[in-house]
Amino acid sequence: MNIVHTIKDLQAGLTALRAQGKTVGLVPTMGALHAGHASLVKRCVAENDVAVVSVFVNPTQFNDKNDLVKYPRTLEADCRLLEACGVTFAFAPSVEEMYPEPDTRQFSYPPLDTVMEGIFRPGHFNGVCQVVSKLFDIVKPDRAYFGEKDFQQLAIIREMVRQMNFPLEIVGCPIVREEDGLALSSRNARLSADERQQALQISKVLFESREFATTHTVAETQKFVEDAIAAAPGLRLEYFELVDGNTLQKIADWEETEYAVGCITVFCGEVRLIDNIKYKG
Ligand code: PAF
Repeated sequence: MNIVHTIKDLQAGLTALRAQGKTVGLVPTMGALHAGHASLVKRCVAENDVAVVSVFVNPTQFNDKNDLVKYPRTLEADCRLLEACGVTFAFAPSVEEMYPEPDTRQFSYPPLDTVMEGIFRPGHFNGVCQVVSKLFDIVKPDRAYFGEKDFQQLAIIREMVRQMNFPLEIVGCPIVREEDGLALSSRNARLSADERQQALQISKVLFESREFATTHTVAETQKFVEDAIAAAPGLRLEYFELVDGNTLQKIADWEETEYAVGCITVFCGEVRLIDNIKYKG
């Protein structure tokens, strides 16, 4: 595996390989890699001749500076995991390399980015689109891989690709969970042992709500989740929304859509965790 830190070095390597007709896959990450990332990376390696994984904690997508400072940075361990997965290039640029000057571009994809995370993390998706569009321009991948855990992010990136005509395929990959159900996240590393136990309730409540939903209305299912999280020690609900999985707009009736998804954000202590579950589709 080649570990490269500059756009020039990455592009030099890629140009040579592309000249041999090789296909290129990209997995954008912010590092602190876990089995969830590994599943994206393995798929990328399997489906492309050349696999590029970017490891870059993108400052423009952090609306909470404390979160940016505390975001885990584990490049050495990340590179070991990437090497073991068969990655061709680990691209770990500096902030100056990615943003030699401030990125003043504005991305806006209403109504996808005006709900949920769009409300609670103003500017977040603008920053995500800034860095992801730069990575697409730099790497020019044939395919790019994103996790369904960041459900809204995936929908917005698909829309950006559609509107900007990026000539690539976006591949969404299912959430990977711990054996007990907790969705894998780099932020889980920040949970104390007690918080880790409390956080388990998030996926447990979501799974239970899927059962509950088979015999109850959307409004009743909404209340079921809200009440269960309110009753769970150590958790504070930021939002739970039952939405159409394509438009991300709230649904009032199960019959309204073929694709219903519940998206949740919960604080466990200071750590903000997100998860989602498919009810229909
Ligand atoms: O999902 C993430 O880790 C980030 O938002 C991404 C897509 C790597 C952009 O920084």
